[in-house]
Amino acid sequence: MKVLVVGGGGREHAVIKKLKENKEIETIYALPGNGGIASDAICENIGATDIEGIVNFAVQKGIDYAIVTPDDPLVLGCVNALEEKGIKCFGPRAEAAIIEGSKAFSKELMKKYGIPTAAFETFSDMEKALDYLETCPIPTVIKADGLALGKGVIIAETKEDAKAAVISMMQDKAFGKSGETIVIEEFLTGPEVSVLAFTDGKTVKPMVSSMDHKRALDGDKGLNTGGMGTVAPNPYYTEGIAKRCMNEIFLPTINAMNSEGRTFKGCLYFGLMITENGPKVIEYNCRFGDPETQVVLPLLESDLLTVMLAVTNGALEQTDVKFRDENACCVIMASEGYPVKYEKGFEISIPKEIEDKVYVAGAALKEGKLLTSGGRVLGVTEIAQTLEQAIKASYEDVNKISFENAYYRSDIGQKALKAGVN
Ligand code: AMP
Ligand code: GLY
Repeated sequence: MKVLVVGGGGREHAVIKKLKENKEIETIYALPGNGGIASDAICENIGATDIEGIVNFAVQKGIDYAIVTPDDPLVLGCVNALEEKGIKCFGPRAEAAIIEGSKAFSKELMKKYGIPTAAFETFSDMEKALDYLETCPIPTVIKADGLALGKGVIIAETKEDAKAAVISMMQDKAFGKSGETIVIEEFLTGPEVSVLAFTDGKTVKPMVSSMDHKRALDGDKGLNTGGMGTVAPNPYYTEGIAKRCMNEIFLPTINAMNSEGRTFKGCLYFGLMITENGPKVIEYNCRFGDPETQVVLPLLESDLLTVMLAVTNGALEQTDVKFRDENACCVIMASEGYPVKYEKGFEISIPKEIEDKVYVAGAALKEGKLLTSGGRVLGVTEIAQTLEQAIKASYEDVNKISFENAYYRSDIGQKALKAGVN
């Protein structure tokens, strides 16, 4: 079997490493992949948003199965285009990927079908948005409607900040077209939980829960990033909460998408906040989370390709999705200065004995050397019986990896440890 993975980050590296456990796969291609992924797949320099290039490549190579993991190609209809050529895919079609592609869409969906989320208003007219801010409670949350590289959410602590955010999105077009429509929503508090779930549009099988660490600096300080580390499972996601999420959020979401004629097949990511009034949806993503995938997939006991094919073929109900009863911790090593400004091109040294624990995100191969090429450079994941052991082992690995200007948070998993489960 020839498998194609579209994307080139740590998430894709985790997907590819897991797929390699299946011996029926002869070849894995990655578009564009990266310098680290090149050890595990054949990488071709075709960008993840070059839909035509991806489709041509897939046809030419006789790809049997394509896995599309980043948000942009999914929202752009990469799966639709591949399916038109008769290529089976893992990932939602564009009409379903809109659940991430438009926050106005997902918020209206939740309102229409009674799925718990923060109260909100949607605006396409800046004056109306500014008028609304006069009366709404502070802090408030301003969100650009479309994809914005994870930067389109501003939590405004003052009215002035809220106004500035609206103006920067709607007038100054800080996020281009993505900010032409905005959502202003209620500020919620409580622990956050990420739940990735496989769904074939009929059955939902949630994966082990996880906790992201989005801020750049220790103690959840500094700017929002793509994620500086993850642990799984998330101690706040108790059995009781999981049951409520299934009944109040997961199944209603799948049913709502079916009712709208937008059946979702693939991995649906539920970004949840466990509030005083129960679990609420902060965001949906139409894909595996990054770096959540780097702790979730290593804990997957079942064969990933088998589960993915079951999603594609509508056979998820009768397919086992089992996870190891252990703990995982992933620490992201980034370039100093990320997410704002950082230097690239430094040589990365990873000892052979821990290579299988490393998921490479921002690195390129040049004359046989692996050089830093992005903000998030790599993630290191360890699994252990207890969370404490997993954290310790991950940081021991981090200490064995070196590149100039390396930066990482030193407190990944501490919040979860304090939640007192392990
Ligand atoms: P998002 O890109 O929608 O995941 O938002 C990024 C982060 O902003 C989330 O992980 C939350 O920490 C925070 N956030 C988003 N919406 C809200 C909200 N309504 N109330 C409080 N925090 C929020
Ligand atoms: N880690 C958050 C995301 O993948 O969107």
